[in-house]
Amino acid sequence: MNTKVWKVDKYVDNLENNPQVVDAANFLRDNEVVALPTETVYGLGGNAKSDTAVKKIFAAKGRPSDNPLIIHIAEKRQLSTFVEDIPEKAERLIEAFWPGPLTIIFKRKEGVLSETATAGLATVAVRIPDHPVALALLKSCGLPIAAPSANSSGKPSPTNADHVLDDLNGKIAGVIDGGATGIGVESTVVDCTEAIPVILRPGGVTKEQLESIVGEVQVDAALTDEAARPKAPGMKYRHYAPNAPLYMVSGTTKFLHRLVEEKRQEGLRVGVLTTKENAHLFEADVVLTCGKRAELETVAAALYDTLRKFNLEKVDVIYSEVFPNTGVGQAIMNRLQKAAGNKLITE
Ligand code: TXA
Ligand code: MG
Repeated sequence: MNTKVWKVDKYVDNLENNPQVVDAANFLRDNEVVALPTETVYGLGGNAKSDTAVKKIFAAKGRPSDNPLIIHIAEKRQLSTFVEDIPEKAERLIEAFWPGPLTIIFKRKEGVLSETATAGLATVAVRIPDHPVALALLKSCGLPIAAPSANSSGKPSPTNADHVLDDLNGKIAGVIDGGATGIGVESTVVDCTEAIPVILRPGGVTKEQLESIVGEVQVDAALTDEAARPKAPGMKYRHYAPNAPLYMVSGTTKFLHRLVEEKRQEGLRVGVLTTKENAHLFEADVVLTCGKRAELETVAAALYDTLRKFNLEKVDVIYSEVFPNTGVGQAIMNRLQKAAGNKLITE
């Protein structure tokens, strides 16, 4: 299959009628799958009402069929067509964070969405993305769009159109290239089907932000206890893994430096995932800077691109700094832990 690339400037006016966006929307209406930029990562979109379209998403990504997709909509009023009810706390979260990087789990109305999209669950995950191109596409096609991250299953999520093409060129109808995404880690997934909301996946909206709107928010036990079964099916899979083994290193930069030098002495090609503040300390073969420690948002924005770059550099082993587990640091550490398969070296 020839994968089309539509270049769209997200700052131009009237995007909904932009010929490139309209062309992509027509593919979606024909039940083809199209990658699109969002404010978090690129998504691989397909008509959420069509089993045919949704099966193409699973096939292109090589995604396990038990892992449900997030449904993207342009306007809140679309919700009532496929969710049973909007609980009061969900209402408040929507008011505060949509459009934005927050996915909310609702009880699902039967018979509207593809059962493949929701992996047969009684619930459905929904969000309104905060990206002009994504919103224009959603409005232009007039459909709820199922969209997981537009990477091959297991790879780091794509934060630009080249990442999408690296994984999916020839496997999807097209990609809208709207430039690099902003936030860089996926949306926060919060289950609002019980009295107290539960975070199933940390992401662009922090626990502290959620709590400021609805009071107590719990965190799925699986996020801290490896033995617990995650409530978001996708969280049980290893993700984001670079080709070389990745170790998180907790300790002083001196300790990290010593580990790196030991491996270099053994003749290995060593990669270091570090930050602007510390990069000058290392003489490893491949030192990649992933944002600034003092501004964790910049680390989130650069994380997946940095993980992908290590593959191009063909390193034998990667050592990474760790980050504080607060604010967006929770999402960063969650993704880093998955990329490392939880391998942590402590000083
Ligand atoms: O930022 C994002 O959320 C991106 C952009 C494209 O919107 N999308 C994304 O989708 O990250 P994906 O498929 O890579 O991750 C969706 C996560 C998975 O862990 C999945 O298991 C979980 O959401 N999920 C989806 N529906 C669910 C449901 N009904 N109950 C529990 N977890 C659900
Ligand atoms: Mg994903």
